[in-house]
Amino acid sequence: MPYKCCVIGHPVKHSLSPAMHNAGYKELGLDFHYEAVDVAPNELGEFMKRLRSGEFLGVSVTVPHKRAVLEYANVLSPNVKAIEAANTLFCDNGKIVAENTDWFGVHCALDEAVDLKEKTILVYGAGGAARACLYALRDSKAKVLVTNRTIETGVAIANEFDAQFVEVSQIPNVDILINATSVGLDGDDRLLVCPDWLKHTEYVFDMVYTDTVLEQMARDLGCKIISGKKMLLYQGAKQFELFTHKNAPLEVMARAVGI
Ligand code: ATR
Repeated sequence: MPYKCCVIGHPVKHSLSPAMHNAGYKELGLDFHYEAVDVAPNELGEFMKRLRSGEFLGVSVTVPHKRAVLEYANVLSPNVKAIEAANTLFCDNGKIVAENTDWFGVHCALDEAVDLKEKTILVYGAGGAARACLYALRDSKAKVLVTNRTIETGVAIANEFDAQFVEVSQIPNVDILINATSVGLDGDDRLLVCPDWLKHTEYVFDMVYTDTVLEQMARDLGCKIISGKKMLLYQGAKQFELFTHKNAPLEVMARAVGI
């Protein structure tokens, strides 16, 4: 029987994580199998029993469970404590450990594309994805701005991560725009920003990894695109290493998600 890993979410059937992880296992000849498990919010407790019983070696966690899983974990990593959300669970000596590799995905995706020194970056959003993003930017030499539809939560997250809050109606020109809201998920085709914003923006990074309307518009306006799939790749590579204790075969995993 292969060792089993999985991604839990709701919905989860469109996740690219199974293809990415399984491609990595195959490349290294590992007797592992990774699957998608649809877990509705009211089924999370039942799923945790399966994890505790040893059915899964490692679990990727996606929307809407990234915060809810914390109450089931025995150990929260420092990254999880700071971000207050986990995208990774694994068992260590019978204990469920919660980790967050999303921030690492953001860090690598940005780092690969652009030197952040003296850039102005706008993070749009104030939920878990935005927290991972701001955590990834905490030691960058960039000027970091935050905006959010709900001002209160936007101001709070900006203060927490030493960034500056700007209201949606008062966005200045920025070098890099990051969508860390949930707009664009599950085929949501609302447009978060007006085209004028993007005229002076060099890079657009949508953390939603499907081809979103924001990404399409940014491409049409000549912005450079940092694909959300890069973030998917690097957060997944870190999980691969946590689950298998092997170096992730990045090229093969990248091909599996279409980059
Ligand atoms: P996640 O953990 O994926 O970040 P979340 O914690 O629910 O999800 O946060 C969702 C983020 O998307 C929030 O910043 C939310 O804005 P509010 O704080 O105002 O709710 C943002 N968001 C969701 N739908 C939005 C919309 N239609 N327009 C603008 N922002 C939206």
